[in-house]
Formats: sequence, structure tokens, C-alpha cells
Amino acid sequence: MKKNKLSYVYMKKCLNDPIFNLISSVADSRNMPAFVIGGYVRDFYLDRNSKDIDIVTLGSGIELAENVAEKLGNDVKVNVFKNFGTAMLRFGDLEIEFVGARKESYRMDSRKPIVENGTLEDDQKRRDFTINAMAFCLNKESFGQLSDPFNGISDLENKIIRTPLEPNTTFSDDPLRMMRAIRFANQLDFTIESSTFQAIKDNKDRLKIVSEERIIDEFNKILATSKPSVGIKLLSESGLLEEFFPELISLKGVDEKSGKMHKDNFYHTLEVLDNVCAQSDNLWLRWAALLHDIGKPRTKRFTDSTGWTFHGHDHLGAKMVSGIFRRLKLPMNEKMKYVEKLVQLHLRPIVLSQEVVTDSAVRRLLFDAGNEIDDLMMLCEADITSKNEKTVIKHLNNFKLVRKKLIEIEEKDAVRNFQPPVSGEQIMEFFNLKPCHQVGEIKNAIKDAILDGIIKNNYDEAFQFMLKKGEELGLNPRS
Ligand code: CTP
Repeated sequence: MKKNKLSYVYMKKCLNDPIFNLISSVADSRNMPAFVIGGYVRDFYLDRNSKDIDIVTLGSGIELAENVAEKLGNDVKVNVFKNFGTAMLRFGDLEIEFVGARKESYRMDSRKPIVENGTLEDDQKRRDFTINAMAFCLNKESFGQLSDPFNGISDLENKIIRTPLEPNTTFSDDPLRMMRAIRFANQLDFTIESSTFQAIKDNKDRLKIVSEERIIDEFNKILATSKPSVGIKLLSESGLLEEFFPELISLKGVDEKSGKMHKDNFYHTLEVLDNVCAQSDNLWLRWAALLHDIGKPRTKRFTDSTGWTFHGHDHLGAKMVSGIFRRLKLPMNEKMKYVEKLVQLHLRPIVLSQEVVTDSAVRRLLFDAGNEIDDLMMLCEADITSKNEKTVIKHLNNFKLVRKKLIEIEEKDAVRNFQPPVSGEQIMEFFNLKPCHQVGEIKNAIKDAILDGIIKNNYDEAFQFMLKKGEELGLNPRS
């Protein structure tokens, strides 16, 4: 944060956008005190570009929004949320929300507040963090003047997340704020002040009154940071993670038997996740990294001869994905299928790189991964977290070889988006068959022959192979 931003002149610059002058004159003409508050003010000091503007007024936020919209012109629509006493309008790329200053108290069993009109300070008090409780005045008389009753500026400078009121009050008012505290700490690289963090620990079970949608929204913001391990460790340390994501907690711990240990899969997972984040912003690839070993706790075995094994954790993990997505209200669509696929396949390139890399194994990997092959390779490289440098170098070199082969084979055989060169209809037509298992058998045999390199991926060779296979099955061509 630049110190000179504290100057009055600089604050006014933050309000340079003509929209603020317009709101200012509308508010003045109606004698309504009006302020910009919350995230927009915080982000101004942090040099973050924000398009969401929250306006608070002493009076009706809905009326102010309607008056502002009138001035802006006919095509500006106001969305009114009567129950909450708020109104929202879009102007260009700005989203502006208006609300009347409130004094709020929340019931123990719900996030829905009982609302009364209040002063600016009443409204600031009921906000989540000191850094989110600052406001700039918009009325002409004190345009640009900062109101900061809880020393948000000093917390911004010292990079601290702290609640304006006693933290138990702020969190029990709205338990989602416990997730927000950790999300902001992770996103902004701030520290959560100790009594605030203690209150999260003490109130963790209040998270159960918050909907999964809102929890996962915050969690996805943590996953979208450049180093989500920081936020996830805080979630774990505070006890919140256990409340909504027990499967991740089950990854924790190291067992030892007969002097043999396995790695702590929780911390390994976080390392893999950070590695992926250094390479890609794709949220769903990040989810795949988070869940790639999720099947390990339930497949863990020990024998004297093999030591610790997790056989089948890829398969079981992939099966767990849809249940986790459903419970967390994540999309049950192609995003979920993508994560499932990567979890299912995450061992394949590693196994491949440990063996002699045969063309047919590479072809099968390309066939199974399809368009996800590049993301899968990225995940697998991120999965090498050994502390032994020699092992890491060996694996990475083998991966280079696998990548090279993948390119060569795809150029030659085009199996990445495999389309059968002879279709089921053509097989039925040729042998005069109705749909039956023999059609599938011939189709599969052609596919396997291509993937195993017995024939090339083209119509002529596939047709000849079909003839041979039909003969083996005792089929006769249509006369
Ligand atoms: N707020 C709050 N408690 C919440 C959510 C929001 O007190 N549970 C207040 C804060 O003052 C916050 C403002 O409402 O600054 C706007 O909330 P929101 O748009 O959700 O968050 P931002 O702070 O703007 O941050 P981001 O856009 O990164 O979510």
C-alpha cells in the first residue's frame, strides 16, 4: 500500500469515475448522506481493481438507487431485493449496490438478520473486518473524506485481518465470515489476528447453518489463489475444514510399521495443488489435484513384503468424486466428469514413465485421456514431490520422453480424439446383422488392433481387419 494514498487528494482520485459525482449530486439533492463502503475502499488502498461498488445511505437504499438510475437514463434497470432493503444496478462494467445503513442482529439459528435503520457507524460495526468497514463520503461537503472508526487503514498497513467488534459477536452474527477471514488472509497474504483466529476455532461448528453453496464459493476463491495450501492449512488448523470436507482430513497422518512409513497424504496433496497452481489457473485442474489421492485412506494396506500400498486408490478416488461434488453443490456436469477422469488416470503416465515407453502404451493413454492429455501430464508432473532430487530428475526426464512420444504418436496415428474408422452401421450392413454383441466385439477388436499397433488408423486396414474378425466369428458377408 502506498503511503501517499492516505492523502485527501489521493482519496478523491479513487472517486474519479463520473458515476460518483452523479451519485453525489443525487444524494445531495435528496438530502441523503451517502458513502462508498467495503471492498471497493479496501481494494483502492491495495491497488486492486474493483468493479463492485457498495453504496450505503442513511435512508432508503432502494429509493437512492432508483433516483440514480433515472439520471443515468432509460436503459438502466434497478434490481430491487425488498426483503434485504437493497437495490442493484449495472452501469458499463460497474455493479453498484445500494443499501440503507443498518443496525443488525442475527438469530442463533439462521443467517437471516433482524434489520433496523442505523447510523453509518452502526453499519460499519456490523461488517466483517476492519479493512472492509471503511467508507468514503460522497456528499459534496465532505466528498472523499474517509471514515475509519476501527482503524482499518492501520490493519491494511500491517496486513491484519481483524473483526471490528469482539470476534465471537461478528462470527456468530454470520459464520460465513470465518471462511472469509481465511480466504482474505490467503488472497491478500494477510495474517489473522490471534483473538480473531481463536474465535474461528471456538465457533467452527456454527458453519453448519451456512449453505454449502456459500461455503464452496469461498473455498473456490481459496483454490483460485496462487498458493491455496496456505488457506487450506488455516482451514484445517481452525477446525473448519473438518466441518465441510472430512475426506481431506482423512488424508492426514503418517503410519509406521516394521520401520516402514508412508508419506502424509494431506501435505503431499497440498504440495501437488500448489505445483499445479504455479502452472495453470484452471479451477477444475486444481480440483483434480486436490482430489487425486482422495481414495488413499480407504485403500491403505500393509504387508511385510510390500510395505504400505494404496492399490486401486485411483479407481476408488474417481468413484468418490461425484459424491463429493454433489454434497458440496459443485456442478454435476462435464466439469465433474473432467475431475473424475483425471483422478482415474493420474497414475498412468507415472507407470508409463517407469517402464520402457512402448508405442501401444502411449496410444492407449492418448485414447483414454483424449483432450485432457495435457492437463493430465501437468497433474502428473506436479505429483512428483519426492525430497530425493535424483528421483525427481529421473521422473521428470522420463516424463519428457513420454511427452515426446505423445506428440510423435498423435501426429502419426491421431488417436487423441479417436473415431472408429469403420462404424457399427458399416459392420451391420456388411455382415447383414441387427444390433448385437458381435458388432461391439468387432468394433472393439478394431480399436484394440489400432491401439496395439497391429493395424494403422485408417479405413482400408480397419476394413481388412473387420473381414478377418468376422471370419473368426463365423460370419458371412451379405450376398
Ligand atoms: N460483508 C460482511 N459480511 C459478509 C459479507 C460481506 O460484512 N459475510 C460486507 C463487507 O463490508 C464487504 C462488503 O459487505 O466488504 C461487500 O461484500 P462482498 O462483495 O461479498 O465482498 P468484498 O469485500 O467486496 O470482497 P470480494 O469481492 O473479494 O468478495
